Amino acid sequence: MAKIILTGDRPTGRLHVGHYVGSLRRRVELQNSGEYDKIYIMIADAQALTDNADNPEKVRQNIVEVALDYLACGLDPEKSNLFIQSQIPELCELSFYYMNLVTVSRLQRNPTVKTEIKMRNFETSIPVGFFTYPISQAADITAFHATTVPVGEDQMPMIEQTKEIVHKFNTVYGETLTDPDILLPDNAACMRLPGTDGKAKMSKSLGNCIYLSEEPEEIRKKVMSMFTDPNHLKIDDPGSLEGNTVFTYLDAFCKEEHFERYLPEYPNLDELKAHYQRGGLGDVKVKKFLNHVLQEELEPIRSRRKEYQKDVGYVYDVLKKGSEAAQAAAAQTLDQVRRAMKINYFEDNALIEEQSKKYQ
Ligand code: TRP
Repeated sequence: MAKIILTGDRPTGRLHVGHYVGSLRRRVELQNSGEYDKIYIMIADAQALTDNADNPEKVRQNIVEVALDYLACGLDPEKSNLFIQSQIPELCELSFYYMNLVTVSRLQRNPTVKTEIKMRNFETSIPVGFFTYPISQAADITAFHATTVPVGEDQMPMIEQTKEIVHKFNTVYGETLTDPDILLPDNAACMRLPGTDGKAKMSKSLGNCIYLSEEPEEIRKKVMSMFTDPNHLKIDDPGSLEGNTVFTYLDAFCKEEHFERYLPEYPNLDELKAHYQRGGLGDVKVKKFLNHVLQEELEPIRSRRKEYQKDVGYVYDVLKKGSEAAQAAAAQTLDQVRRAMKINYFEDNALIEEQSKKYQ
């Protein structure tokens, strides 16, 4: 069976380091591993509109921002198909048929939808499109026969819902859709990178994210004001790693070679952590080290982004070609789906013959 990746992001803002360690970095590795037959990376503008219906301009402006971040991270249009969700009308038709296979109560139980409804104060007036977006996400994944969906932990309920739809469809209409597997980040820090203030949710309005396009001075400022251990007042006090954002970021970003370059007194992160816990290691020293690490990791991304920013026309061209290719693939799947559901009436000679006979 072909190995196919599909994943994507909502274009509601520039991507940040949480997106990077949670999914983007992995995508680039998977892309360069050469192990996949096809890789589809989708900018989910239609999904972004499910809770931004009154702000389409935000979504529109951020499509290119997300595409620039993708290219800057090393997604290569020669190897990965980058496309825009709304340009593939086949996805709507698939969603429409899948809707019959899902109950309202099942959607209400979807934990991600539940949290998002609370976050957006939608409790009393949930837009239907928003409520049903897990179904449309199942269409995104199945339209490309994706076998692998690399995403963050928050997307787990979406993949579960997709698997249920696949099983239901295949049971009712015959083996047609491909059952996808989720691919989660392999370390806990990458799974849930907190904001620089230690809060679980990174958000623009809280000002607690470091963007991939962030300038060096901004990165430094955000690192130096990061949340650590509030009880670690004096250098000699023992420090705690629990909920200590600086160490969580080091877990997500730091490699052994960073120690050789920026903190040669320590051989690795375990030793640094041990010293911090014993006492005698100040926050500022750890933050300065993290700053070096982040600067080194983000510099190539930022400079590649600047190159692509000079040619936005090229970026749209990549998305257009990618969308055309994605549409062709989705159209094939839709054809299989219609056939399986036997709603391909005009090609169904057996049906026409049988009904003609009935009235002979
Ligand atoms: N829900 C994802 C997000 O919020 C975006 C997305 C839409 C997606 N369709 C998808 C991710 C299909 C993986 C597969 O970022």
